[in-house]
Amino acid sequence: MLVYGFLTVALAAIPAVLSQAIVYDTAHNATPITGTWSSGSKQVVTGKFANPSNLSFNYPPTTGVSYSFADNGWYEVARYRFNGNGSLPNCITGVLNWHHGHYQLLDNGSILLIPNGDGYQQIQDPCAAETNFIENYNDTELYQRWQIFMDLNDGPKLHIFEFDGTPVAPLFQIYNPPSMLPPTQLRNVTPAISTGSNLLAMNAGARSWSSPADVMALVSGVFAMGVAAVFL
Ligand SMILES: *[C@@H]1O[C@H](CO)[C@@H](O)[C@H](O)[C@H]1NC(C)=O
Ligand SMILES: *[C@@H]1O[C@H](CO)[C@@H](O)[C@H](O)[C@H]1NC(C)=O
Ligand SMILES: *[C@@H]1O[C@H](CO)[C@@H](O)[C@H](O)[C@H]1NC(C)=O
Ligand SMILES: *[C@@H]1O[C@H](CO)[C@@H](O)[C@H](O)[C@H]1NC(C)=O
Repeated sequence: MLVYGFLTVALAAIPAVLSQAIVYDTAHNATPITGTWSSGSKQVVTGKFANPSNLSFNYPPTTGVSYSFADNGWYEVARYRFNGNGSLPNCITGVLNWHHGHYQLLDNGSILLIPNGDGYQQIQDPCAAETNFIENYNDTELYQRWQIFMDLNDGPKLHIFEFDGTPVAPLFQIYNPPSMLPPTQLRNVTPAISTGSNLLAMNAGARSWSSPADVMALVSGVFAMGVAAVFL
């Protein structure tokens, strides 16, 4: 028994990069990956995050990421993040990103997300020439590996690692079957997307960003709440 236990621990310690196939065991993939997963306070959730028909977002109260995987081969990703800049601490970039499409669980343990072409993202960068804009997003994403553990308190917990090994925040399963927008083309994609007037209104506040205190005072709506969360 001791030897067996030691072996199990030793095997678990081998990086999944070396393994050749997805191992559906309790130590690694306690449940299938299908379902809706969400990080942190679970406020960012696929299915209700984006309105592709009018290129808008339903701003969640806090930042986070959400991934859904369905039995029919479709995935959906919702991300709401603030990216800091070490050399320019006042230049915090806000990103809302949505896309869906087909996923592949590769034999070598990686996940490939192949977008459908109707994804988009909103970027707010107080220090850039254009401070707030929406653009098409259609990048194929490779996740090097994934693992699902059973958390005693939170249930299934999904860990995925970006193409370069960077871990995504731990994801908790909040729905199964998943909550997702319809698995079909949800908007006509044109090469360039003009910035809507409501975004220009947000620009006005963003242009005045100069310190975190100003950010919270001047920027209305969700971006201000998100920035506040960053500093908590
Ligand atoms: C798995 O295969 C894909 C496609 O060949 C490759 O891009 C990816 O880097 C591989 N993943 C690992 C962990 O080697
Ligand atoms: C976009 O569409 C959604 C869903 O139809 C709607 O709830 C929302 O108010 C619309 N937003 C804008 C900015 O038109
Ligand atoms: C930080 O800002 C500088 C100057 O604009 C830019 O060159 C750099 O890429 C930014 N770093 C990050 C991590 O965004
Ligand atoms: C989006 O990316 C996929 C995968 O690379 C590609 O097949 C598709 O044509 C792209 N769609 C658009 C609108 O660029």
